[in-house]
Amino acid sequence: MKRKDFLRAAPMFAGAMALEGTAAAAVKKAVRPVLTVAHITDVHIRPEMNIPARFIKQLEAVKKAKVDFFLNGGDSIHAADYKDITRERVLEQWKCWDESIQAIKGYELYSCVGNHDNWWAAPSKDDAMYGVNYAAKRAGMPHRYYSFRKKNWHFIILDGNNNGISLDAEQMEWLKKELESVPLGTYVLLMSHYPILTVTGSWEGGQHKDHKELKQLFYKHKEKVRVCLSGHQHLLDRAWYDGVHYFCNGAMSGFWWEKGDQRSAQPYYYQETPPGYAILKLYEDGTVENEYITINIDDPAAGNK
Ligand SMILES: [Fe+2]
Ligand SMILES: [Fe+2]
Repeated sequence: MKRKDFLRAAPMFAGAMALEGTAAAAVKKAVRPVLTVAHITDVHIRPEMNIPARFIKQLEAVKKAKVDFFLNGGDSIHAADYKDITRERVLEQWKCWDESIQAIKGYELYSCVGNHDNWWAAPSKDDAMYGVNYAAKRAGMPHRYYSFRKKNWHFIILDGNNNGISLDAEQMEWLKKELESVPLGTYVLLMSHYPILTVTGSWEGGQHKDHKELKQLFYKHKEKVRVCLSGHQHLLDRAWYDGVHYFCNGAMSGFWWEKGDQRSAQPYYYQETPPGYAILKLYEDGTVENEYITINIDDPAAGNK
């Protein structure tokens, strides 16, 4: 089996596992999803290397999948979080983001904040551009964590940036109330930048530190919670625990739009993961399919290293 085929087949297998039986899988194939959603993550946009044009090209391709809306898992801009980042550099990167996503004007885009989106080097904490709140605003979010509902799916967007890869107490209380308020028959998809549960966390950092508390909370609402999406790792992995799928959907930027290093299995890969994005199909009965689409981000005009 070619690698590309495997990557495409693997999520289907994972999705089928959730159906608790092949008969159910056969029935489901005949049923149309209630929602088709694109999950992009880790775009890491910046003006160099023709990256905005390369990103726009990918967005145009995603649109052909006839998605209902977009989810964006954060690290939208390359990096605002390092000590030496100036105000001008932060603004320049967000400008690239604003201009690029014009390509999906007319689509709803629901984002979460990634660790690289936040400018901690602002002159003071009172600066309007400091930290997570500004990143949330620039990403078009109503708050650094929020929720919305489409059909019989409830979407919860989390922020693990303000409390050391954990939800802060205020957000945890909010999440508990959110899950309580979701009626039976409505299913929950959560999106965070850092994975709540991950396979690749064995060798790559970034898993939520409050994962034990979260899995206990999900158990309490096991009739509702179905999917957790994440990025951050730039690695494609999937885990399953107690009825919940955890899809960590690689990175649109692969090796940050560059050719890679000695760990890259192929050009633009981060380790063994190619650049890509996921298409999710969400069904009325709470089942889900997550397909990772590998993309070609090579660009002769990019001047890659
Ligand atoms: Fe990233
Ligand atoms: Fe990240």
